[in-house]
Amino acid sequence: MEVVERAETAVHSPALLDGEDVNDWSKEDEDSVEEATLPAAPIVVESERVDSPPLEPAQHFHEEVESNLQELQLEKKEVKLLGHEELQDPGEKEEEKKRHLNVVFIGHVDAGKSTTGGQLLLLSGQVDDRTIQKYEKEAKEKNRESWYMAYIMDTNEEERIKGKTVEVGRAHFETENTRFTILDAPGHKSYVPNMISGASQADVGVLVISARKGEFETGYEKGGQTREHVQLAKTLGVSKLVVVVNKMDEPTVNWAKERYDEIETKMIPFLKSSGYNARKDVHFLPISGLVGINMASRVDKKVCSWWDGPCLFEVLDSIEIPLRDPKGPIRMPIIDKYKDMGTVLMGKIESGTIQEGDSLLVMPNKANVKVLAIFCDEKKTRRAGPGENVRVKVSGVEEEDILSGFVLSSVVNPVNAVFEFNAQLQILELLDNAIFTAGYKAILHIHSIVEESEIVELIEEIDVKKKKDADPKKRKPKRKPLFVKNGAVVVCRVQVNNLICIENFADFPQLGRFTLRTEGKTIAVGKVVALPAPGNSTFA
Ligand code: GTP
Ligand code: MG
Repeated sequence: MEVVERAETAVHSPALLDGEDVNDWSKEDEDSVEEATLPAAPIVVESERVDSPPLEPAQHFHEEVESNLQELQLEKKEVKLLGHEELQDPGEKEEEKKRHLNVVFIGHVDAGKSTTGGQLLLLSGQVDDRTIQKYEKEAKEKNRESWYMAYIMDTNEEERIKGKTVEVGRAHFETENTRFTILDAPGHKSYVPNMISGASQADVGVLVISARKGEFETGYEKGGQTREHVQLAKTLGVSKLVVVVNKMDEPTVNWAKERYDEIETKMIPFLKSSGYNARKDVHFLPISGLVGINMASRVDKKVCSWWDGPCLFEVLDSIEIPLRDPKGPIRMPIIDKYKDMGTVLMGKIESGTIQEGDSLLVMPNKANVKVLAIFCDEKKTRRAGPGENVRVKVSGVEEEDILSGFVLSSVVNPVNAVFEFNAQLQILELLDNAIFTAGYKAILHIHSIVEESEIVELIEEIDVKKKKDADPKKRKPKRKPLFVKNGAVVVCRVQVNNLICIENFADFPQLGRFTLRTEGKTIAVGKVVALPAPGNSTFA
């Protein structure tokens, strides 16, 4: 079992508005997908390695992003945790039976994401006692005694010295029915782009909140990452949230029900305003990541008399996630690529099933490719379906001709490649309370694309509090607004300089929702509502 870490970019990040009830993005998701259930199953040890070479920035990345990328010195990092023997390749039948879930750990800096992720690996038998003892010693030497559990996920020297995750840590464990990949995102505001990359690969988020006195408050207030991470996660396709109220063991908390209730009561309206259905999409529970309480087994009544709910493993095991269409057209946004006797494309399949021997199209450069091999984690497989993180070896295209953000697509019904689109935007917080008008420039983050964009026209402002306005069918045409302010919901036209492969949110939510960021701050989240006619890249 090894943990691989990778960095992408570092810029600094924003504060978010406590949105009032805004457009519920989740509703549309729910309408368009079925739900799959997962029966509870024991954790089984898995040993494997994900080889992820450094991500090369697309040529058209924003300069700032590029320079930050260099600053971070992309490196592949691997740490051996346990000498478990590789599990045998599963048979075809078993392979089909098991679903794969990516779980991203998000939340404010120091909330305990790495500690909880590390504990989860320890409790599922991925880390042996000797390794933990070694980490305890190392943490002590660095005067970071309480960080030893986080060292399981935080593998590089910088992270261990500072006690902060920088790169998204990745580790695996599996249950009888599910293979889990944990993605441990950094909480620090400087590394929001890394968090975005982690969250864009995940279906489920574990939002870690510190219950410690003052810490919940700092994370939740404007400028804290609790809010920003939630809003980004929703926009990036994380459909379910497990909210763990962590550090319940801490002396200022001591498993107090009042503190837990206070946090839940404050979080729920915010989660709703971010588009999560609090009843269907969100699950709260108290834990101690450091001590490992209410994680693998339910908390002892002697420790916490009032908790009757499930433990973390039970929740993860039973989580239901939207089913993507295995028979739909193939869409795999490419997050990385490298050469290995052919061109290897890495990404998550968002729709359709890729099979060995398939003829596919890389868009937008319309390169016809043939699938030579498919790998899920380290295992070779003949086919892979939606939700899988895969590496696909193809012939027919040179590695140099591919940029991250390109999309591997079916030949019939290929992905749209456009220079412009109409979007419905929720303005979160503009820099210095600027006004939002035509000519506004921002960095567009949509699936694995990072691209400079410009708002060229404001089409309509939507008053989400008016029922009529919220329903596009009942909405009456209005005069085009010249500008809008913080908190507004507006339909506008967005242009980019390079062809980008995107879809209408209604057709493929994962390829149709995005964030706009300026100077390292998320200023808006949005969804694609109209594209040029098929085959056209502009509306004109
Ligand atoms: P970043 O990666 O920097 O965003 O932080 P993180 O969320 O990964 O937090 P990390 O796991 O590094 O933990 C931060 C500090 O909180 C460490 O000192 C941990 O020991 C402590 N901590 C984490 N979980 C718990 C817990 O359940 N109880 C107590 N008492 N302390 C905890
Ligand atoms: Mg961390």
